[in-house]
Amino acid sequence: MHGALRAGGFFVHAPSVPDSPAVAERLVLRRMQVSPSLYDLTPAAQLMLVGAVVALLPLAWILVRHRGGAGGERWQMLARLLLFLTFDLVLFGAFTRLTDSGLGCPDWPGCYGNASPLGARHEILAAETAMPSGPVTHGKAWIEMIHRYAATSIGALITFMMIAAWWQRRRDPHSALSPAWASAVFVWVCVQGAFGALTVTLKLYPAIVTLHLLGGYLGLVLITVLARDRRQPAIAVSTGLRSAAWAMLALLFLQSALGGWVSTNYAVLACSEFPRCQGSWWPPMDFRHGFTVLRDLGATAAGDLLPFAALTAIHYVHRLGAYLVLACMLVLAWALRRSDEPTLRGYGLALAALAAWQLASGLSNVVLGWPILAALSHTGGAGAAIVCVTALLTRTRGERGAGASVAFRPGAAAGPAAAPR
Ligand code: HEM
Repeated sequence: MHGALRAGGFFVHAPSVPDSPAVAERLVLRRMQVSPSLYDLTPAAQLMLVGAVVALLPLAWILVRHRGGAGGERWQMLARLLLFLTFDLVLFGAFTRLTDSGLGCPDWPGCYGNASPLGARHEILAAETAMPSGPVTHGKAWIEMIHRYAATSIGALITFMMIAAWWQRRRDPHSALSPAWASAVFVWVCVQGAFGALTVTLKLYPAIVTLHLLGGYLGLVLITVLARDRRQPAIAVSTGLRSAAWAMLALLFLQSALGGWVSTNYAVLACSEFPRCQGSWWPPMDFRHGFTVLRDLGATAAGDLLPFAALTAIHYVHRLGAYLVLACMLVLAWALRRSDEPTLRGYGLALAALAAWQLASGLSNVVLGWPILAALSHTGGAGAAIVCVTALLTRTRGERGAGASVAFRPGAAAGPAAAPR
């Protein structure tokens, strides 16, 4: 078929496109790198519908399981379920990146303007035939779209929770769910969705993909606070311990930013031995190019190929940061283990176990040639450590003076002192 097709307000000459006008138009749009979804809202609406329907399942499960129970208990269960699902979504996001499926559907929110890869099968087939190991294949398109369906479902659950929280607060000023906090989670999911869109439309721009990962971890923090059990009294600890926990949370975010920078720049294989790298304790490193934030994947800011020494710098800095973060995790864990309060001792044990987990999974990435299981365990371990420290902060309150149950001083006596919030 030869002819002129209308695309986004322009007429385009399209030689030798297939007979079906619909397929032909989409292929032409793709060649022009114009996404039909930019002006067609149908795929977005369909995606939201799928998300809302999927979200009904966990919602119904909670409502049926806790029918007759207190409202507060139901909300808390729902918030915990949300935490679990969001954690899984962060892992599935890492799986999407690790299987190179991030551009499996190169437009957004739909897949070549369709709500599912089924509707886009002709375009995907054409792309896969042209480049069988390229970014677009049937498998990769499904992985990418499942990530989007799951994210939309979580968005639907959060929207429901926010509306319900405001509605409940009008009826009961002391309701268990904080409307302000539920609204903060709602704003978070919208911003995170925007970063998901930019990840695709800016073609895996490393700074955006790293921010998307950190955004996932920030969501875990917000939902952990939302899911806390408000009926339990806060445990009094020294202000020093609270400050140490806050510093730990900040360090974990910083280290995760460095880790995200490793993975989004594909710098994992720059060092394949441990503790040395390329046979040296200080291999050739290009920090300037490695840590230029605004640049395309694999390129310098000037558009040249990113030097290998830049990848080495990215990898090695994450490793150096890990020594510090792991040491801090162990010191905090040790301080918590000295408490008489079983809950705090439990947090101490969890933190020590997570430090060991991060070391083991990080090392497996390096020496076993980056198996997908090790990479996923590492992403999950960082998320679990962030949730653990956030939960510790929500369960405790700082208290100056002798009443604190745990002081952050080596050799300080620790005694229990639980106080209601
Ligand atoms: C508390 C300590 C650590 C934290 C919080 C942490 C966190 C992270 C995070 C969040 C990522 C990005 C994961 C993703 O994009 O899905 C990452 C990647 C990575 N980390 Fe760590 N890490 C820690 C320790 C270590 C250690 C000890 C090593 C090795 C000796 C290591 C080696 C790596 C490697 C090789 C990657 C790239 C993996 C990939 O591309 O998939 N990390 N880290």
